[in-house]
Amino acid sequence: MLDIEALRADTPGCVNVIHLNNAGSALAPRIVTDTVVEHLRREEEIGGYEAYAEAKDRVDAVYESIGRLINAPADHVALVESATVAWDRGLQAIAFSDPLQPGDRMLVSGSEYASNVLPLLQLAKRTGATIEVIPDAADGAVDVDAFTSMLDDRVRIVSINHAPSQNGLLNDVAAIGDVLRLRGSSAWYLVDACQSVGQLPVDRERIGCDVLSATGRKFLRGPRATGFLVVSQRMLDELEPFPLDLHAATWTAIDSYDVASGAARFESWEKPYAALLGLGAAVDYALACGLESISERIGALAHRARTSLVDIPGVTVRDRGSTLTGIVTIRVGDPAGLVSELRSRGINTSLSTPDYSQIDFGRDHTPGLVRISPHAYNTEDEVDQAIDVIAELVRS
Ligand SMILES: Cc1ncc(COP(=O)(O)O)c(C=O)c1O
Repeated sequence: MLDIEALRADTPGCVNVIHLNNAGSALAPRIVTDTVVEHLRREEEIGGYEAYAEAKDRVDAVYESIGRLINAPADHVALVESATVAWDRGLQAIAFSDPLQPGDRMLVSGSEYASNVLPLLQLAKRTGATIEVIPDAADGAVDVDAFTSMLDDRVRIVSINHAPSQNGLLNDVAAIGDVLRLRGSSAWYLVDACQSVGQLPVDRERIGCDVLSATGRKFLRGPRATGFLVVSQRMLDELEPFPLDLHAATWTAIDSYDVASGAARFESWEKPYAALLGLGAAVDYALACGLESISERIGALAHRARTSLVDIPGVTVRDRGSTLTGIVTIRVGDPAGLVSELRSRGINTSLSTPDYSQIDFGRDHTPGLVRISPHAYNTEDEVDQAIDVIAELVRS
């Protein structure tokens, strides 16, 4: 059982705004900001390299914390600057070490995020491979049976968005992983866990994916420009990332190099250590709260929002799926205007537009959505206040 008053006391931003934009970038707990600022101060006081040397054990502990969060060995975790970079690092390694051929197939969910599909489109254009969208099941999530029937040995990449940012659903990524395993598929399996990590328990071992990408600033409540990828043993055994730098590999002689062991090969030498220590503090904070408890609380607040919103004339709740996440999306006449009016009243929500997810938005020609995404530190009263203001604004 979470102590909501304690969560709010830990979250300075709560006194300024009703923050229902946690799928955008959450309010950080004080410990996260303090950790970042303290390290920056140390860099100021003694020098950047020296501050890193002093903090090295704490930096190493960030990998351990993420490993605990995702159920993965610490040396399968690579720290990067965003979920997109995490995804790209995995995909670049696949494209470089196991190149696609004409006629190869890439299967994607209908809710894919733009930045994940764009490089697949580039690969398709360059290699003659194709991209196919896995149909939705009746509930709107990825149809696992349809996926099973699409699978053959030309399928080389499977890309699934775990918790899409624009439709409230949760895809059954473990079921997809089971199918790949049972069928002995050699496809590379990439899971975008950008919106699920920090919001609910996520277990890479159970999912069985090769690449899991996540960001720090959203439901994890970490600093901006932090992210990570978690890779499978097979990624480490079979692939070489491109390009390598002198952290990802050692230049051993004029014509040779050794690739770093573990997921360090997906990282860059230079890192924002203050931000990464902040990310570690955010992960530890989430682990201390308990991901089950966070997920339950977010689910309850999102349910409260959805059940009130459906009764407001001029508002359509667009979410679908048997298992709903804490991302509540609504159609209204002027979504951009509503987001901006809400912000001027101290209520943070966000706008989702088709350029973020062409396939999904194309289904019902939705021009844009207002996204309301509570976190565990929000209160029922905040959700009710936001809904009342939405009802008033939509009416006027
Ligand atoms: C589902 C999903 N995937 C990926 C991303 C990209 O994350 P980042 O901005 O950290 O690269 C987002 C960002 O909103 C997202 O919602």
